[in-house]
Amino acid sequence: MSVSGKHWAIDGGVLAAIERLVPEGGTVLELGSGDGTAALVERYTVFSVEDEGTWVGHCEGATYIHAPFTSPEGNLPRWYDVEVLRQRLPETYDLLLIDGPAGHKGRDGILHHLDLFRTDVPILVDDTVRSHEADIARELAMRLNRPMHVFWNFSLIPVEPLTAEDVARIQWQAVRVLEKKDEAYVRRYFTTSEPAREIDRLEWHQKVAELRERKKSKKEGGVSLRIGRIITFPGRLLMKAVRKR
Ligand SMILES: C[S@@+](CC[C@H](N)C(=O)[O-])C[C@H]1O[C@@H](n2cnc3c(N)ncnc32)[C@H](O)[C@@H]1O
Repeated sequence: MSVSGKHWAIDGGVLAAIERLVPEGGTVLELGSGDGTAALVERYTVFSVEDEGTWVGHCEGATYIHAPFTSPEGNLPRWYDVEVLRQRLPETYDLLLIDGPAGHKGRDGILHHLDLFRTDVPILVDDTVRSHEADIARELAMRLNRPMHVFWNFSLIPVEPLTAEDVARIQWQAVRVLEKKDEAYVRRYFTTSEPAREIDRLEWHQKVAELRERKKSKKEGGVSLRIGRIITFPGRLLMKAVRKR
């Protein structure tokens, strides 16, 4: 999701990341609902936490958890109603997507309520192109003792390290999204819209093909080596026996 009018929903980069981490039929817990929830519902069981009544039930097929935006006592930041979350959050899910509440309301409440969530699943923090969300992701990675992958507008904290092919595939889709952004949008978040190297999604498409090829030949190399060892086994056995005499 991003911030200007038509950029609210999760984009192709975020979807690619989720697809690398969660097999079809898995479960996604989403904080913040919207049009993008529909894309998730096509592949996954989706629990969607939403604070705004108008967005609750927006997408058919998702299970909504209406947790209004509240002011807690003390110095804690405003966030979802914690009591509702405590009672309604599902016990199991395969990925946590942090994309709500709306950016201007602040999302750092999660840092005070990590106990409500599973910490043994990958976490995707959307909109880390903004400092507030980037800080949340960084703190989550530190507190969970996990490395973090930073793409241009979202960050991913996986449980198992991603493979080079996973990273290349996600970057390919993330760059595809970036290529379509207009200059004014890019300049809102970065010093300049002038890239230091050409921004070309095809570079990452080729990288994916290269990495797949490398994996395939490694596998085939391993199989040929094993076949070779089987074929030469009787000969090696005979040689061993002769040497012993
Ligand atoms: C970033 S949006 C969540 C987007 C959602 N994950 C998706 O992929 O569509 C965060 C919050 O903004 C509100 N929202 C969602 N879509 C919106 C839209 N198109 N315009 C204005 N507000 C929206 C909802 O209250 C939502 O919880």
